Amino acid sequence: MSMQTRKKHITTTEILKKKNTEKITMLTAYDALFAKIFDGEVDMLLVGDSLNMSFFGESDTLSATLEQMIYHTKAVCNGAKTSLVVCDLPFGSTICEQIALEAALRVFKETKAQAVKLEGGAEIAQIIKHLTQNGIAVVGHIGLKPQFMRLEGGYKVKGKQESELESLLKDARALEEAGAFCFVLEGVPSEVGKKIAQSVGIPVIGIGSGVDVDGQVLVWSDAFGFFEDFKPKFVRQYLKGAELIRDALKEYAKDVKNGDFPNVSESY
Ligand code: KIV
Repeated sequence: MSMQTRKKHITTTEILKKKNTEKITMLTAYDALFAKIFDGEVDMLLVGDSLNMSFFGESDTLSATLEQMIYHTKAVCNGAKTSLVVCDLPFGSTICEQIALEAALRVFKETKAQAVKLEGGAEIAQIIKHLTQNGIAVVGHIGLKPQFMRLEGGYKVKGKQESELESLLKDARALEEAGAFCFVLEGVPSEVGKKIAQSVGIPVIGIGSGVDVDGQVLVWSDAFGFFEDFKPKFVRQYLKGAELIRDALKEYAKDVKNGDFPNVSESY
């Protein structure tokens, strides 16, 4: 069945089954308007805390709150009827089993998201296990972890040293063992992406991790050229969104100034 004719959401089991069969597509979404356009065109929609930068104008993701993530996730769920919706758990909301479970339960009770995403590897495996044991589907996130950028002094590619590769492999296995149904792998060399994808039985969704992983995720405002502050190397721009909007705006302003808008057929 094509995704466009499907009436039900894609499930976590369907995502798992795509490993070694079909590449998985994931894109961020932050509101109902765009979720409706993206819905069914990609397997998963991620309400990423990247919204704190691209839509809220902050310089990193750290100040995003659970309240904001729930608000945006509700909106995305209002627009998405087919794609699986994942809500990012923001910085500070996963610091121990109980706090993470409370945050995830709020997401599940107050929105229709089908999964939550947590940044971290082996060190949070127990927390992920606690969530999955309580009925919460989990997407992991290892490699470059944007929530750690202040601690690490920037966004750094991971896995270049042998020791980093070893620790990433440990993280990947720990996520699988803890019950995550897939994980995001961000900012690692292509060879590392390949090794990690081969080392686990769950799908690895790459961002800046090369082509030899099980799927790709992009921040939509990067992919469609709306976010212009900087363009990471791994982003492919499919549209010059900001330019298109500016051109259209110029037309609108010109028509208003010239008295061309509204015309008779646009008036009561
Ligand atoms: O917040 C986000 O959008 C993310 C993606 C970069 C994977 O975590």
